[in-house]
Amino acid sequence: MISIKNNKEVYSTVEFDTYANRENLNVSEKYLIGKFLNKNEKTLEAGTGGGRILLEMRGLGFTSLYGFDYVPELIERAKQKDRSQSICFEVQDATNLNYQSCYFDQILYLDQIISSIEDEGNRLQTFKEAYRILKTGGTALFSFLSFEARSSSLFYVPYLVYLSLIRKLRGSNRSLQYLPWLKHGGKINWSALIDAEPYVYWYKTKEVDQILKEIGFEVVAIGSKTQMEQEKMHSSVETLVNEPITGMLTFVCKK
Ligand SMILES: C[S@@+](CC[C@H](N)C(=O)[O-])C[C@H]1O[C@@H](n2cnc3c(N)ncnc32)[C@H](O)[C@@H]1O
Repeated sequence: MISIKNNKEVYSTVEFDTYANRENLNVSEKYLIGKFLNKNEKTLEAGTGGGRILLEMRGLGFTSLYGFDYVPELIERAKQKDRSQSICFEVQDATNLNYQSCYFDQILYLDQIISSIEDEGNRLQTFKEAYRILKTGGTALFSFLSFEARSSSLFYVPYLVYLSLIRKLRGSNRSLQYLPWLKHGGKINWSALIDAEPYVYWYKTKEVDQILKEIGFEVVAIGSKTQMEQEKMHSSVETLVNEPITGMLTFVCKK
C-alpha cells in the first residue's frame, strides 16, 4: 500500500496519467456545453488537468478559453497539447484565484474538482471564488460526487456499512460523506479498507442547492447522469429528489 497524504498528491502521482492523457467529451459534458454555453464568451475551466475539456471546446468553435489546475505538471501537459497556444493555461489553486473579479462570462467546475477539496472551509472558499470571478448574468456549471447516487447503489452499501462500523470502533464521528478513493489509477486502492485518508467529499443534492443559493447563485437547472442523458434537467431540487440519481450531480447556475 502506498501512503499518499492529500488529493493534490493523488493527482500528481497515481491519477496523473489518467488526467494527463484523457480525451473526448462524455454525453453529459456534450449536452451541458451545447445547451448552456456560448462559443463567443470568455470561458474558464477549473481543474482542467491535461486540458481535455478546453481542447475539445476549442474544436467545437469556442474562441476565448482559460483553464487552471494546481498540479504544475498537468498544466505543462495541457500547454504541450495546445499546439496553437490559443488557450490560456495557468497553475492556480481554486481556493484563492488570481483572476480579477467578474472577469469571466462562463465558468466550468466539472468532474469533481470541489469534491476533491478535503477541507470544508476551503470548499466554501472555492464556491466564493467562483462567484467572485464570474460576471453578473454569467453562467456557472458545477458537478459533484453525489452521496445519494453512492448510498443508493447496492454495490456500495456493504462498504458504507463496514466503514461506519470501523469509524464507530475508532471513536470517529466523521461523516460518511467523506470517503476514501476506492481506486487509484484504475486499480483497487486497498488503503480504502483501513479507511485511510485522503478523502473525497460526496455532496447531498439539497446541501449543494443551499450552499449555492447562500453564496448568491441562482440555480437554473439540476440533474445527474440519468437526467442529462435524457436531456431533461430539473429546475428545482424538490422535483429531482423523486427521480433516480446516478453518476455525477450537476448544477447550472446564473450569477
Ligand atoms: C477529476 S480531475 C478532472 C480533470 C479534467 N477536468 C478532466 O476532465 O480531464 C480534477 C482536477 O482538479 C484538479 N484540482 C483539484 N483540486 C484543485 C484545486 N484546489 N485547485 C486547482 N485544481 C484542483 C486536479 O489536479 C485534477 O486535475
